Amino acid sequence: MTATPDVHLAAPLADPDTFVDGPPHDLFARLRDGDPVAWTPEPAPHSGFWSVTRHADIVAVSRDWQTFTSSRGVALEELDDEQLAHRTSMIDTDPPRQTQLRKAVAASFAPRVVNSFETFLRGIVGRTLDAALPKGTFEFVENVSSEVPVRVLCRLLDVPDDDHVKLTAWGDRLVGHTDPELADVLLHSEESEQYRLLPFRSPAALEVFEYGRELAEQRRVQPGEDLMTKLVTAEVDGGPLTTQDMDNFFLLLALAGQETTRQAISLAMLTLIENPEALTTLQERPELLDGPALDELLRWGPPVYHMRRTATRDVEVAGVQMRAGDKLAVWFPSGNRDERVIPHADVLDLERRNVDLLTFGKGGPHYCLGSFLAKLELRVTLQELVARLDTAVLGGRPERLRSNFVNGVKRLPVTVTTR
Ligand code: HEM
Repeated sequence: MTATPDVHLAAPLADPDTFVDGPPHDLFARLRDGDPVAWTPEPAPHSGFWSVTRHADIVAVSRDWQTFTSSRGVALEELDDEQLAHRTSMIDTDPPRQTQLRKAVAASFAPRVVNSFETFLRGIVGRTLDAALPKGTFEFVENVSSEVPVRVLCRLLDVPDDDHVKLTAWGDRLVGHTDPELADVLLHSEESEQYRLLPFRSPAALEVFEYGRELAEQRRVQPGEDLMTKLVTAEVDGGPLTTQDMDNFFLLLALAGQETTRQAISLAMLTLIENPEALTTLQERPELLDGPALDELLRWGPPVYHMRRTATRDVEVAGVQMRAGDKLAVWFPSGNRDERVIPHADVLDLERRNVDLLTFGKGGPHYCLGSFLAKLELRVTLQELVARLDTAVLGGRPERLRSNFVNGVKRLPVTVTTR
């Protein structure tokens, strides 16, 4: 590996504590300017990784999946072959197999299908807001953002609405694996060794697998139009998915389908509270949510911090020499604020046109499968919210997830008045 100008500059990115107040935008700006592909040391026994912070480099790495494979995992945890054999799902699989896996479920996320949810979604959002807003002071994540996406997930899976409670709790335990408040077992603890073959090293995965297997059994007997029916009838490499493939695929969908969108809603609310003029703009011109404002809010508050890739050969990125086997993290919040591509990137501008958004990835085969659905959920939630809100301020300090992977808001106390 080649020496970099300041080996310590990017070091905080390996530490989840760096993110407890949100993305470290100042650090990202310094890296983009001075060390855009920065070596990021990790505590032993981990190997360290390259932090890629400029927009163009993030897109180039995401696009070149042959050189930057997902098949060693997309989180920074280093996995041996046995772990990979147990834990791999579509997101950590390269084409052509990934293409086949994606095809098995892609129709469920097509715009035409997703658009048919709008009336149902507006009903959920309306009921949720009408229960929450009259309280005046309340915790927004529990009362609003965690209510909406998980109910859409229940509908995609065609499971009882009451199951949303378990699905939310599992999601929290899985993505909370670096947060002492939420993790059953902390990621790098000795105790986590016994769970090393499970996604996120979390015992919550076993409960998700069991739930998925029971559902799969029901769908084999009585197929429907739901996502699980798609999985049990899928043909990949000329045969059905194995139980392990099903477990991991189901877990990916159950998690991706709710956690990130929940964060997107919380982060957008936080943005509107911290920038009251933006709330006023939307109140006066709600039609902006059908256009540029939605992408701008997603640019400002991206729920996923990074994806990891692994170099398959010796390669240069932006003049920095990497070796085969090196890990890289592409940092989406940084690319979203790169002045080289987004003029005045540090300004929140709800009328900004053609935002070159990295929030869902960009340019590669893994571009978020649920992006259209996530945008619909965010748009409908914000439209209904803005129509009801008069003022909104913080009712206490927001609490973030301790994670350098998910830009999570655990608690968002708010005080609101309505129109
Ligand atoms: C605002 C909400 C969301 C954000 C920010 C988000 C973000 C992302 C990102 C960054 C990736 C990886 C892109 C890459 O590596 O190039 C991804 C992949 C994925 N997302 Fe989302 N996502 C969101 C909502 C959803 C929803 C609602 C679903 C529905 C199930 C979903 C399902 C997936 C799946 C299945 C993948 C893996 C795709 C593949 O490997 O081909 N996401 N998402």
